[in-house]
Amino acid sequence: MLGACSSTTNQPDEQTSPSNTNENEETTQNETNEQEKVTIVYARGKDATKATEKIIEAFEQKFPHIEVEFREMPSDTGAQHDAYVTMLNAQSDEIDVMDLDVIWPAEFAQAGYVQPLDVFIQRDGIDLSEYNQGALSAANFNGKQWAMPKFIDAGLLFYRKDIISEDEVPKTWDELIEAAKKYQGAEGTKFGYLLQAKQYEGLVCNAVEFIASYGGQIINEKGEVVVNSPETIKGLQKLVEIANSSFVPDNITTFTEPESHTAFIEGQSPFIRNWPYQYALANDPEQSKIVDKVGVAPLPAGDAGSAAALGGWMTAISKFSKHKEEAWEFVKFMTGPEGQKISAIYGGLAPTLPKLFEDEEILEANPFFANEGFVQGLNAAVSRPVAPNYPEISDIIQRHVSMAIAGQETVEEAVQNMEKEMKEKLEL
Ligand code: GLC
Repeated sequence: MLGACSSTTNQPDEQTSPSNTNENEETTQNETNEQEKVTIVYARGKDATKATEKIIEAFEQKFPHIEVEFREMPSDTGAQHDAYVTMLNAQSDEIDVMDLDVIWPAEFAQAGYVQPLDVFIQRDGIDLSEYNQGALSAANFNGKQWAMPKFIDAGLLFYRKDIISEDEVPKTWDELIEAAKKYQGAEGTKFGYLLQAKQYEGLVCNAVEFIASYGGQIINEKGEVVVNSPETIKGLQKLVEIANSSFVPDNITTFTEPESHTAFIEGQSPFIRNWPYQYALANDPEQSKIVDKVGVAPLPAGDAGSAAALGGWMTAISKFSKHKEEAWEFVKFMTGPEGQKISAIYGGLAPTLPKLFEDEEILEANPFFANEGFVQGLNAAVSRPVAPNYPEISDIIQRHVSMAIAGQETVEEAVQNMEKEMKEKLEL
């Protein structure tokens, strides 16, 4: 790693007055021109699209004194989480900037892993009212902003337009089952439907969608465990039925996002449940065999309607970074309008700056962003349970939904066990 001029590596703490840095702006700029390049390390999960590469390229062009080294982390969000926790627990300074899943900021803030951004935000006049307030609040904890929202995720149904006509797109889970059976094998496909059913965080998202579409919940707004309900049971039964059907791959319980998106872009299935990035990936001629053949629709409905799980990623600065000024410059660029535009065009990612949904180039790359239903769907997406010890709650859901899929317990037993274990954890 290259050395840096100290005037640009001052690390504003919560207490540091931002004006200190402003006073020296001119000197800093001059010194910057002469100084050695500063390298910052940016970590995130594997990006199957070109977005990360393009963002770094554009940033380095604009800020020639900062070089961004990309550190690829596991794409499974749970494995990625554990890797950061190990590093940050040891107070390692090897990464400067990292993306955080929406389910982590409170935990990372509380553990002291990330730098509060308020001083930078105020100093640089970032107008937080321009952001989607739900996405912003996911990283607001104890009155401080710990990360900037980069994109919003919501589960969607992608289908092959060359196989399924628009009026045949399934509107309910039962219609999906019929269509998956009917079109399995069409146009060289091997399967009828793809989802993420491995025991990991993505299974929680799939489960939340089935549960909510039948009117069930896991933990309610008051923090009460309400998982043992007829609605939740119905939703999970539908998930178990689909995961055990002959139209999904035999090894569907090993499928996370990369396994499922790869099968889809190789032309192996007429339908997939995935996040918005699937569209950009399916239209990348270097990787996909189904360019221009993909349509997007809301996930099928249960008795209570269609429900998408709310996901998304934020960007934060490591508390242990030795280059916080440069790190902030990168965070500001990536989560600001320029960076989010690149993410949307090359990565198919839904912006957290609502005004970007009107940007023509973004709409050209992602025509479904213009769909009112899509934007409403993002706003109505269902959060995963909100709990201070979310990883433990997620683990309980992952284990019991997996056991139900494997037939090791009935869905009724699974929800009873979830209820018991969650209550124990939340009472602690
Ligand atoms: C996506 C979502 C994230 C979620 C993950 C699960 O990356 O944005 O919130 O936890 O998928 O696999």
